[in-house]
Amino acid sequence: MTRTALPPSVAFEAAENEGSNPSHGPTIGDLIATRLSRRDLVKGLAAVSIAAEALWPKALAAAPASGEEKGAASRFDFVELPIAPGSKTHHVAEGYDADILIRWGDAVLPDAPEFAPGKPDAAAQEKQFGYNNDFLGFIPLEGRSDHGLLVVNHEYTNGELMVPGLAPRSDKDSQFSGVTREIVDTEMMAHGGSVIEIRREGGKWSVVPGSRYARRITAETEIAVSGPAAGHARMKTTADPTGTRIKGMLNNCAGGVTPWGTWLTCEENFNGYFWGKAAAEPVTKEARALRRYGAPGEWYAWGRYHDRFDTLKEPNEANRFGWVVEIDPLDPTSVPVKRTALGRFKHEGAGNIVNGDGRFVVYQGDDERFDYVYRFVTDGKVDLANRAANKDLLDKGVLSVARFKSDGTGEWLPLIHGAPNKDGQVWLSAQNGFEDQGDVLIHTRLAADMLGATRMDRPEDIEVDPKTGKIYLMLTNNAKRKADQTDAANPRAENLFGHIIEITPANGDHAAPAFTWEILLNCGSPAVAEVGATFNPATTENGWFGMPDNCAIDSEGRLWVATDGNSTKRTGRADGIWAIETDGERRATSRCFFQVPTGAEMCGPCFTPDLETFFVAVQHPGETEDDAPPSTFDTPSTRWPDFKDGIPPRPSVVAITRKGGGKIAG
Ligand code: FEO
Ligand code: CA
Ligand code: CA
Ligand code: CA
Repeated sequence: MTRTALPPSVAFEAAENEGSNPSHGPTIGDLIATRLSRRDLVKGLAAVSIAAEALWPKALAAAPASGEEKGAASRFDFVELPIAPGSKTHHVAEGYDADILIRWGDAVLPDAPEFAPGKPDAAAQEKQFGYNNDFLGFIPLEGRSDHGLLVVNHEYTNGELMVPGLAPRSDKDSQFSGVTREIVDTEMMAHGGSVIEIRREGGKWSVVPGSRYARRITAETEIAVSGPAAGHARMKTTADPTGTRIKGMLNNCAGGVTPWGTWLTCEENFNGYFWGKAAAEPVTKEARALRRYGAPGEWYAWGRYHDRFDTLKEPNEANRFGWVVEIDPLDPTSVPVKRTALGRFKHEGAGNIVNGDGRFVVYQGDDERFDYVYRFVTDGKVDLANRAANKDLLDKGVLSVARFKSDGTGEWLPLIHGAPNKDGQVWLSAQNGFEDQGDVLIHTRLAADMLGATRMDRPEDIEVDPKTGKIYLMLTNNAKRKADQTDAANPRAENLFGHIIEITPANGDHAAPAFTWEILLNCGSPAVAEVGATFNPATTENGWFGMPDNCAIDSEGRLWVATDGNSTKRTGRADGIWAIETDGERRATSRCFFQVPTGAEMCGPCFTPDLETFFVAVQHPGETEDDAPPSTFDTPSTRWPDFKDGIPPRPSVVAITRKGGGKIAG
């Protein structure tokens, strides 16, 4: 049978995330995936020739909710949520409340004006909660679980849902028609992040008004640069001849919270904010590097009004985005810092742990088809007794990129300028285009290409289980992987549904050069054999999912996964939160806990330390789902969460608590 065209929603996603890695990492050499069972291998290869219809079955019968599968006891005590694809509202498992905490446009700063739907107003937006909440981090105040700071990323904006008369950015023919200077400036103010103070009283959470911690960070906030790329020639612009001061942070996706209470917020698809394509010839070194990062992406009209977003006018500005930013939420006057030692790529998150020897370790995915997984290990040790001592800890250390081998081992390849590899070869040299360590970091992807890192199926979140030290890596999907490009760690051609890899550091040492790994789960429908999903058979029809994206591991070491890309047509379900067993007989059993309204993706899973509250972020509610008519300000697919005429859908943070109190799934 021939494969039919991808559904429009998948095709759009493909355009957003083309994959720009031309290098030839391990492919054929690793094809004989010795660790895969023959059955899995056959399934993986068979997937090449199946019909698209088989992947998106039209009639998916929802099995009854069940919390009583046979066999060993679950670590999650809740009754599975029945799937409800295309629903206009959110749903949570029975016995839980899921309350809106804060919405796009709500006040963050004390003097913020009221939200005025459909009226772009940059000055108001600068003081209000931004758009498309993604990462959430809870930082307790005085060690409490009912009072703390919530740090929130605002990844991007959906102009077509914010303002009347705008086309979705997937509509390239619109040429940004109707986009004005005020709209652009409002979009810039709706990016970045928010710090809010929140408190739980009488069982319910609310934002503390007039908090001294309240803060908005936008695409214009002054940010410092530190680490080896600070002041580098490639970081200098007309507005900043020192290469050390940058206006704003962009496309902040996921992140992390450090043990010393700072917020790591990660710039992902920064390429989309730039325009100004240079001539195809001659291909300069800079042009090649921009192309490797997909810049200029021309997703926004910012370059029309701000020269710095035009790569022809300000070619180095793009080099100043794609970093991890560290922010101290306890000090609203502190200057955020781009920590260049952690590399420049399309950062998803910054899952972290203090290693046994006291060094700080950050795991990072580069979210693009065929891109890489990274690890950063500080030179210095964390000082938990002296918060200030960790101030510049992230400026010195070793960034490495992962190579997954077919025998279930792997190695971290250090990205150090001028250093020989274990075979005595020096790849990161001036001869190969890297003059210094600043070059290696500004062009991290190009450096990693040289070392033969493993090209992955879009690495999203990666988090460490604090109890076992095991690391969980979400690979969201990669429809572009061909059968002859599969390898042991990315075993499925046309991987539409993604997978999860479990990594174990050698001897429990997160700084060790070696690790072992295995696939925890190939996602997708277990009912369609050709998909090659590997959910535990105890998983019900409600329980499976596709496209793992963000994840959280709670203080009891339980894995919770948030998804991005499920829909009625793709998987017969909405995005949401899925609880996944990682141990024993029930390993790879999953159950649905929460689901988002139509058009939304699930982000930000985050717990209070007492596990009594689970915060989640509902991103881009009301976007077009599948091949429905395009969602706009006037015709959104839902008006969640206000459900009032004239009020568009609003990305919001949701606080999930147990009715009557108690631990989530405890
Ligand atoms: Fe912004 Fe990789 O998700
Ligand atoms: Ca997102
Ligand atoms: Ca994500
Ligand atoms: Ca995603």
